[in-house]
Amino acid sequence: MNPTLGLLHPYPFQRLAALTAGLTPPALTRINMAIGEPRHSAPALVTTELTGALDGLSTYPSTRGTDALRAAIAGWLARRFGLPDGALDPQRHVLPTSGSREAIYSVVQARVDRRAERPVVVMPNPFYQIYEGAALLAGAEPYYVNTDAAQGFRMDVGAIPRSILERTQVVLTCSPGNPTGQVMGRAEYGELLDLAHRYGFLIAADECYSEIYFDEDAPPEGLLAAALAHGVRDFAHCVAIHSLSKRSNVPGLRFGFLAGEAGFMAGLLTLRTYLGSAPSQLAQTAAVAALADEAHVRDNRRQYREKFADVIAILGDVLPASRPAGGFYLWLPTPIDDEAFVAGLYATQNVLALPGSYLSRPHGGRDPGAGYIRLALVGPRAECQEGARRLRTYVASLTRNHNGTSIAY
Ligand SMILES: Cc1ncc(COP(=O)(O)O)c(C=O)c1O
Repeated sequence: MNPTLGLLHPYPFQRLAALTAGLTPPALTRINMAIGEPRHSAPALVTTELTGALDGLSTYPSTRGTDALRAAIAGWLARRFGLPDGALDPQRHVLPTSGSREAIYSVVQARVDRRAERPVVVMPNPFYQIYEGAALLAGAEPYYVNTDAAQGFRMDVGAIPRSILERTQVVLTCSPGNPTGQVMGRAEYGELLDLAHRYGFLIAADECYSEIYFDEDAPPEGLLAAALAHGVRDFAHCVAIHSLSKRSNVPGLRFGFLAGEAGFMAGLLTLRTYLGSAPSQLAQTAAVAALADEAHVRDNRRQYREKFADVIAILGDVLPASRPAGGFYLWLPTPIDDEAFVAGLYATQNVLALPGSYLSRPHGGRDPGAGYIRLALVGPRAECQEGARRLRTYVASLTRNHNGTSIAY
């Protein structure tokens, strides 16, 4: 076997299954707030398009994507991020992928040069676990940048030691962030772009949550627009990674896309030709329709807005929570150890949450995910409300168990 497979950490949901395996929850309906799988309905325009595209089953999909798809991707990115006409060339700058998960994996494999001495891939900490796996499988060393509440969960790239930057080949960013919901602004991208140009690394911006935000007038910034505003030519050192999974509630469609530096995209296309992971012809056809419509995306945001308002109001002062800048997670500090908290919540309320420490690694003597849980507000509104009520009851019982005195956290 490839020995690097042995370096991969168990997936967070495997760890959660092990944590809860010996516990018997009460006879209440299970509420799973651990998994970030979008559960609003898929838009009818996508399902209709898919049904009409069934003859696509008899063709191998094009790795580059159809002309219509590449034009739809470039057009959507230009509209959404306000890119000037012609800045993105559908022929040179964009590619479709089978979701953003494999896109992240492919980008890291295409960029890391194993001949370099101890290549590094930088990522926020906590993080989406594929970042670390992609780095390890590419033969690179992951470098974790802790993101803390005290800094608004910002990834402080200015604090990365020079000795690390000199070996860095890829910096992964996640905005809106999973799990913290933090959104990067233009100045933060600017700082990172300066470093990318100085040290020659690629910025791979995971923007799969870019369409889940709460102020219709203030959509999150993206890497491509920030790069142009910063005077970067032809998206040098940049690739932005997108997905329809969250935007259009179609995680099962497996459709994502990438846009960035033309030279890098050409290399990535070569890798992807061998990888054979192009989205099916059906998915490509449905994606063209999904990208042309924003009404279902606005409605999706409305549903998340309502659920965040409900849950935050229910948790109230028992478990103080504030709405994140984007994404569909609540990242909540826990009054006791996060694993013990999640086990107790399951054992007494049949609610599943994810311990924060399953999404992070100890770095610099601390574990920035420890003492947090991640709650995904993906289920129906009533289910999220009920989950929040049970969470409140559980936290109140913990507080009572401490001799009736409330515990500060
Ligand atoms: C931060 C982040 N990136 C990427 C993905 C992958 O999503 P998909 O492959 O469905 O596009 C996820 C999924 O949960 C995620 O949370």
